[in-house]
Amino acid sequence: MEFFTLENKNGMKLKLTNFGGIVSEIHVPDRDGTLADVTLGFETVEEYQDHNDAYFGAIIGRFGNRIGDCSFCLDGTYVSGLHANDGKNHLHGGKRGFDKVVWDAEEISGDGFTGVKLSYLSKDGEEGYPGNLQATVIYKLTDANEWVIEYEATADKTTVYNPTNHAYFNLAGHAGPSPLDHELQINSEFYTATDDGGIPTGAIVPVAGCGMDFRQAKAIGQDVDEAGVVSSRGGFDHNWVIDKRPDEFALAATAWDPKSGREMKVYTTEPGVQFYSGNFLDGSLKGKGGTVYQKRSGFCLETQHFPNSPNIGHFPTTTLRPGEVFKSKTVYAFGVR
Ligand code: GLA
Repeated sequence: MEFFTLENKNGMKLKLTNFGGIVSEIHVPDRDGTLADVTLGFETVEEYQDHNDAYFGAIIGRFGNRIGDCSFCLDGTYVSGLHANDGKNHLHGGKRGFDKVVWDAEEISGDGFTGVKLSYLSKDGEEGYPGNLQATVIYKLTDANEWVIEYEATADKTTVYNPTNHAYFNLAGHAGPSPLDHELQINSEFYTATDDGGIPTGAIVPVAGCGMDFRQAKAIGQDVDEAGVVSSRGGFDHNWVIDKRPDEFALAATAWDPKSGREMKVYTTEPGVQFYSGNFLDGSLKGKGGTVYQKRSGFCLETQHFPNSPNIGHFPTTTLRPGEVFKSKTVYAFGVR
């Protein structure tokens, strides 16, 4: 296992390890050009191996977020026995998901970017999923201050695939003041309602008039407690349906820290984004530089297909068939305002 540090012509830096494809540092300039590391994480691979229960910076697979009751029906075959690691449900790929495996890594570069190509063969039956799945994830850092993620995969049996990245952000710096005063705008009119276990029921609910409404930018903290009441999930931890055409590469969300001026725009080909306000962080994790990560000290914008899709026929499909090539792209673009 090793670390790679990418640097662009503006001095922006991104550090990652091939353990879990974890991005451990992202150094971004503020409006005065001062760099800060805006992602939560640890310093060593050992810490990520031992206690990255929060999934800091990691690739999530085979399936981002939850699958209800650890089972689903796929082309008439009942797939059961996914690992139950969230009550009776399956979360983020199971016991040893893509966040905990060692990826093959190859450094790459091209016009205006440097990067790392990560590859992993997930064997037939791994964590209960059918088919050998050959997955690649390319991380690029561009001279336009973008972190680009390109996912590809093929499988030799019909299976499901829904990868994402679980980076936590605080645009004031990972050790900085709470991001609850960041302004967030989500390009979405609907979210997928869940049961008390965070499993989408299939209902697609308008955000209008409730705390889930981020059509206009507002502070993350403004309605965070109301969201907890609405959903029993203790804050924002939901999938928003991005207002775009299928496969269109479009803006999903914009986060902005008024104090530092740092802004992050999230673009994706994916139909959904899980906005998670770091509700389960509780001060028990000590990260980089001894920073203690308190409740809601970082937030995630995980681009994805909707959680529990294999059980909800009218959600965009996560089925991957032999002969098909899965492709997905997400960009976190940093700037100042
Ligand atoms: C996701 C889930 C949350 C939680 C975090 C990790 O965002 O939706 O409920 O599991 O990952 O702590």
